[in-house]
Amino acid sequence: MKILAIETSCDETAVSILEGVGDTAGATYKVLGDALFSQAHLHAEFGGVYPNLAKREHQKNLVPLTIRALAEADLLSNGTNTITGTVGETIREEVFKHDVREFLTMHAKPDIDVIVVTCGPGLEPALWTGVAFAESLAQAWDIPVLGVDHMEGHIISALVKEKEGTLELTAPSFPILALLISGGHTEFLVMKEWFNYELVGRTKDDAIGEAFDKVARLLDLPYPGGPEIDKHAARARERNAEHDIIFPRPLAHDDTCDFSFSGLKTAVLYKLQKMPKLTQEDKEHIAEAFEDAAIEITLIKTERALEKTQARILAVGGGVSANKEIRNGLQKLVDDEFPETTLHLPERILTGDNAIMIGIAGHLRFVSGHRESGPLKASGSQTLN
Ligand code: KG4
Ligand code: ZN
Repeated sequence: MKILAIETSCDETAVSILEGVGDTAGATYKVLGDALFSQAHLHAEFGGVYPNLAKREHQKNLVPLTIRALAEADLLSNGTNTITGTVGETIREEVFKHDVREFLTMHAKPDIDVIVVTCGPGLEPALWTGVAFAESLAQAWDIPVLGVDHMEGHIISALVKEKEGTLELTAPSFPILALLISGGHTEFLVMKEWFNYELVGRTKDDAIGEAFDKVARLLDLPYPGGPEIDKHAARARERNAEHDIIFPRPLAHDDTCDFSFSGLKTAVLYKLQKMPKLTQEDKEHIAEAFEDAAIEITLIKTERALEKTQARILAVGGGVSANKEIRNGLQKLVDDEFPETTLHLPERILTGDNAIMIGIAGHLRFVSGHRESGPLKASGSQTLN
């Protein structure tokens, strides 16, 4: 089955074409085409994602990226296609509507069986751009379209492994504890069976990625700040120089699986107010001390959540799962304390936002008849047709 997947929930515009075989008992995926444009550098001057700019960029990039992904998959054929007057009706912006209709008129219907699109959570104007685009394609090509939850995409991205150019989903053992660490989310969900989630704990304020981004901004480092903090902290560790900076670990020792990161960020701010002149080395020490605190909180909470859920698999997803220290810390925790549990980390290419994970989650839901969006139906959006 060929899947066209679209992701526009934040500042990445991504279109992928996958060939999926199998179902939740075991599936394999070939990525036939993959086109992604990161807008991060455009949002850098705002120090975070600016929703209307994100929407405009998605509108500009969706058609070219779809053409690129289809061409890479060898599924783009020129030719004329008559489309009905109602195609593109859900798109309000005239230029975008024109581009979509022109693309649909100038190309024959490709060999795609289903379209899947992120329908939440994310920035509303950004999400709707992808959803309206997906609906227009599905209507013109007369194929089904399915809404997929972005966080479910992150969870499933941890459950596939790359083998000789193919992404393989091995049938998982339940319960699975999902640790989601991204720019918008920090939470534990337990998955007792496919598509059935229960919340175990979540942040009471900032997400961990947001804390990385805010601390980076305080240190005058560019957005997105996570990779910058990661690099700066690594340099401090390499130098192994003494310093006495220690930040607090908010909520670490309460008995819940909830997180709090805003106090940690404020502690960094107060520390910086007492350090008017920052050298490059100071920045690296602050980055290291902040990262140590954020990781220790995450490890303490993960240990508690694993004890509570007795999970067989720990699946970690979201952009912060690219962080080397967190990856190493989680591996050590599982190896030392939970030998019955297997840690699943996403392949590096699947840690950040991408359409491949959306395509896999959508395919698994489509073939197993679970066509309402998960994990906690927070976004409300269901199957789109
Ligand atoms: O999952 P993601 O790409 O987008 C959301 O769904 O939010 O996550 C983005 C977050 C950003 O806050 C970014 O700074 C963080 O992931 N991030 C990192 C690293 N790479 C990305 N945080 C820490 N270390 C990294 N290496
Ligand atoms: Zn994400």
